[in-house]
Amino acid sequence: MERIATARHVDGRTFWVATSTGHGLVVEGASEEARPPAGPGPMELMLVSLATCAGSTMRDLLTGMRQPFRRLVVRVWGERASEPPRVWTRIRLRYQVVGEVVPDRLARAVSLTDTKYCSASVMLSQVTDLEATTDLIHRVRAEDTRALRRRVLRPHQRLDELVDPGEEDPSTVFFAAHRGEEVVGTAALYREPLPGEAAAARRIRAMATAPEVRGQGVGELLLEACLDRARDDGATVVWCNARLGAVGFYRRYGFAVVSEPFDVEGIGPHVRMRRLV
Ligand SMILES: CC(C)(COP(=O)(O)OP(=O)(O)OC[C@H]1O[C@@H](n2cnc3c(N)ncnc32)[C@H](O)[C@@H]1OP(=O)(O)O)[C@@H](O)C(=O)NCCC(=O)NCCS
Repeated sequence: MERIATARHVDGRTFWVATSTGHGLVVEGASEEARPPAGPGPMELMLVSLATCAGSTMRDLLTGMRQPFRRLVVRVWGERASEPPRVWTRIRLRYQVVGEVVPDRLARAVSLTDTKYCSASVMLSQVTDLEATTDLIHRVRAEDTRALRRRVLRPHQRLDELVDPGEEDPSTVFFAAHRGEEVVGTAALYREPLPGEAAAARRIRAMATAPEVRGQGVGELLLEACLDRARDDGATVVWCNARLGAVGFYRRYGFAVVSEPFDVEGIGPHVRMRRLV
């Protein structure tokens, strides 16, 4: 048998771990103290292993299938039994892929990862309830985004009123986040100068995620898809007119407010925000 790691007790529930591959890390079991833990917990690391093992397998399979993904994020959620031994009773994995990946190929890669090639997934699924789902963030036609844009951004308008000027321009790009067949997020990038600035700019519009998927990273990846595309197009500045409720979201990704608040008819107060690409 191969030696994998040595865990040396340091203090309390803290261990210093040396791995056979020459790495070291601090691991701390649930602490009774008020201070933040000195390192990840052992049960937490089990799901970190799962996410990264599944992620590497997905990366290999998508690469082997020549599916040009731009970003790959794996999120993991878990529920533990309330009584000892507090095993993981339910685990949910979500693969979030940005890029022009064929949906059927993505589904095939997930199935092969979960049932055949990912050691951690195959092992854990034998002892607990483990399921994986995917979000695919990719280019779509403008019309594919209308229903969600109407639901989230402009419920007061009819679908045919949602056609924005510049939407048909060949430089305009629409993105959707598909969870299975369902569109759960949208964003668009327009070639439009930032008023008062000469820099090559792109404007973000139609940024929206369905209320039931918020806080799960879909907005972040739609924004990243826009920034990647703006970078590819040689733009140096990206800007948007942000609803006041979304200012914190854009700030989180480095956008700064560059205008006084102004009102958009039928929608409400906005501010202009910009960041370098
Ligand atoms: C703004 C919006 C697109 C964010 O989408 P989302 O899917 O919830 O975003 P994510 O889950 O990817 O969030 C990414 C990060 O931003 C943070 N965040 C999201 N919305 C935020 C907000 N309104 N204020 C501050 N932070 C926010 C999240 O907490 C998360 O941070 P974390 O990684 O530290 O946890 C979504 O809330 C939405 O559609 N709002 C209504 C429509 C709207 O206002 N659109 C913008 C038009 S200008």
